Amino acid sequence: MIYIFMSIEKPWTGRFTAPTDAFVEAFTASVSFDQRLYQYDIMGSIAHARMLAHVGVLTEPECTQIVEGLTEIEQEIKREAFEWSIALEDVHMNIESRLTQKIGAVGKKLHTGRSRNDQVATDIRLYLRDEIELIRSELTRLLTALADVAEREAETLMPGFTHLQSAQPTTFGHHLLAWSEMLLRDRLRLQDCRKRLNSMPLGAAALAGTSYPIDRHYAAELLGFESIAENSLDAVSDRDFAIEFTAAAAILMMHLSRFSEELILWSSAQFNFIELSDAFCTGSSIMPQKKNPDVPELVRGKTGRVYGHLTSLLTLMKSQPLAYNKDNQEDKEPLFDTVDTLKGSLRVFADMIPTLQVQRDQMRAAAQRGFSTATDLADYLVRKGVAFRDAHEIVGKAVRHCIDNGCELEALSLELFQEFSPQIEDDVYEILTLDGSINARNHIGGTAPRQVRAAVKRLRGRL
Ligand code: ARG
Repeated sequence: MIYIFMSIEKPWTGRFTAPTDAFVEAFTASVSFDQRLYQYDIMGSIAHARMLAHVGVLTEPECTQIVEGLTEIEQEIKREAFEWSIALEDVHMNIESRLTQKIGAVGKKLHTGRSRNDQVATDIRLYLRDEIELIRSELTRLLTALADVAEREAETLMPGFTHLQSAQPTTFGHHLLAWSEMLLRDRLRLQDCRKRLNSMPLGAAALAGTSYPIDRHYAAELLGFESIAENSLDAVSDRDFAIEFTAAAAILMMHLSRFSEELILWSSAQFNFIELSDAFCTGSSIMPQKKNPDVPELVRGKTGRVYGHLTSLLTLMKSQPLAYNKDNQEDKEPLFDTVDTLKGSLRVFADMIPTLQVQRDQMRAAAQRGFSTATDLADYLVRKGVAFRDAHEIVGKAVRHCIDNGCELEALSLELFQEFSPQIEDDVYEILTLDGSINARNHIGGTAPRQVRAAVKRLRGRL
């Protein structure tokens, strides 16, 4: 991109007698980052010009000239042939100034009945509305990958954990579907956020509206807004939508960080439950044996910056008096970085999950250790008439015996079992198997393979 530093006429020279201090010019400029809004700025300006022509403030030929000029500017920017100037502060003034340069005096009429305050509030909403769509499609891609792997691994046994200690057997398919539930809630949060941000601030002008006979509904329809902001003061100052979006993004990243943490743990030699494909790992410059899970590690790390952006935006808006304040220019970088981080993290996960290699034997062997069917034994005793608390005590003693003797529950003889409880009979061994345990949890939300397959089907229906 090209920056011109020579002095350029600012739109407020009428009131000023001295030029802007050179450092202040650079300090207050936002063009280096808000140029990313150019398409939305042009879209908003075209709708504004059409609305002005519709109500007779501009003539049709004037409007046509403005629209054509703006369309050409859009192409110039796309081709990277546009000269951005810091002296012109932001994306809005850069484009407007170029318009006048191109089409002459008519260009100066575009800003009639408008302010950069309602202009920028409109631009960010248009931008975020599109970005939410892109993020939602990456999310859907990741959810689809989870559904596919969950279906494939519906019968894959693994230990389920609480406190990161072996708790009860589960299936890998069921575990994957826990992640998809989190992500489905994230998708709903984004959808909800999009609904609320789809309201048009344009027409609020600087803060109090405008004396021209504008037709806000007409402009809103052109821009695809579902409603128009009710109150002009609120319209130019509100950044709730950016905070809501970043909050939804922070929760989503929190989910991805949990997901990452498990992938990292599970790909270690100590767990060895999964292997990430080489395409998503890197080696070490010193240790030849290393294959590091960089992608999930980076996503886990990037979660922190999104939390930071949420705190930045909340703090930015705290105690701000109505209506627009220049503080609000600081909303963009945290918002843009949140969008980039979220989109990138989802994309890399959606690409990586289908390549997961599952070490089924290792998972099953790990589920076999750690007395993961102890609860099944207690439930068995309950079915034989023992009260649950007594059953818990009996099984606890049997586990203690196994720990002292270095064996698993299924290695105990029937005679020994009967010393712990005479209600135990030789059908107990069936109960102690992993397959018996998971198949028994055969209800909606349970881990039985049948239920996992049914849940995958429902998940696909929700996509
Ligand atoms: N660059 C400004 C922003 O991002 C645009 C609005 C400026 N308005 C003003 N009155 N200085 O918020």
